[in-house]
Amino acid sequence: MNFRSSTLILALFVLGNSSYAQKDNSFNIKKQLEYCASQASQTLKVIPNDGTLPRAVLNGSKEWKFVNYKDWTSGFWPGELWYLYEATGDKKWEKEADKFSLFLTPLSVSKAGDHDLGFQVFNSFGNGYHLTKNPEYKKIILKTADTLATLFNPKVGTILSWPHNKYGGHNTIIDNMMNLELLFWASKNGGNKKLYDIAVKHAETTMKNHFRPDYSSYHVIIYDYETGKKLKGITVQGYSDDSMWARGQAWAIYGFTMVYRETKDPKFLDFANKIARVYLDRLITEDLIPYWDFNAPGIPNEPRDASAAAIVSSALIELSTYTKDKNLKNEYLAKSKKMIESLSDHYQSREVNSAFLLHSTGHKLAGSEIDCSINYADYYYLEALLRLKKLN
Ligand code: GLY
Repeated sequence: MNFRSSTLILALFVLGNSSYAQKDNSFNIKKQLEYCASQASQTLKVIPNDGTLPRAVLNGSKEWKFVNYKDWTSGFWPGELWYLYEATGDKKWEKEADKFSLFLTPLSVSKAGDHDLGFQVFNSFGNGYHLTKNPEYKKIILKTADTLATLFNPKVGTILSWPHNKYGGHNTIIDNMMNLELLFWASKNGGNKKLYDIAVKHAETTMKNHFRPDYSSYHVIIYDYETGKKLKGITVQGYSDDSMWARGQAWAIYGFTMVYRETKDPKFLDFANKIARVYLDRLITEDLIPYWDFNAPGIPNEPRDASAAAIVSSALIELSTYTKDKNLKNEYLAKSKKMIESLSDHYQSREVNSAFLLHSTGHKLAGSEIDCSINYADYYYLEALLRLKKLN
């Protein structure tokens, strides 16, 4: 989601004299946005008229894999369409964004399947409400926030991420940080005020339990249902329980930056800086696009994860606007810009398929979606381009 325009105006003022702002005259953001619009126009032509949405194009294929509204990635395609509407002002995108968002409406009246409701409903209807103020979207967002809150376990202090997959206790995955934005928004826009407290408690509990001493994140923490005690940290999508899964760390950086925006509590800003630090310090690739796991054993012959780079590049732009240290601010901006340029110059799908980007890795250990195009990489890439455009 977009962070507030007042923050951006302030950032623009603060950054006016930075070396970053002076140097930023070569990269053509408009051209990249036009590229995204052109690719999305191609995708629109091949989506079946059956309520499904494009999720991924597997390596070696040109065809999209389509999913229905229940899939955890269902909000990214409508989110991309809303961002294209924001970028262009062209009503064509608004019409399509509305159509595909509405496919997700049942999520607001169903029992909570898992924690992904924020990804699904806030990236679709949330972006839509931001741009249109459509009261129907607001009702859907508020209802869904209440649904997500039903997964909160007060004994643990976090939301249960995967009710269907228990792993011997109450599980919480790092990705879950992203879905707190839905709760914050609802609590400030007519929803139950307790949603704010739930989001803060989840973030505090995660900050305490979900990280190793070097600030790298576990993928999953298993808690005792009754006592709330942390039992163990494990992985499902990373290389090993003790490794730093690239997208997990990316969700953490983005999530804690967002929690600072919503709470203005400096402990969250300090934490976002620490977890960004370990990611940036351990990034060994020249183009700043990570391998799918920082500890993957076959590096440098391991697949990259462009989606992690897209998420981090967007998060760093926002984090740079909150960070007072001038050197750090410039580092975040310079590295974010380098990531966005790398993605634009060397990772775009172009004629290979109609996604925006290639080379993302979904679930390596399961042999699923390896080195391919995935809609969440496209969504955060487009978001990062828009954020960069606003800063400029
Ligand atoms: N939230 C699932 C993933 O990042 O793959």
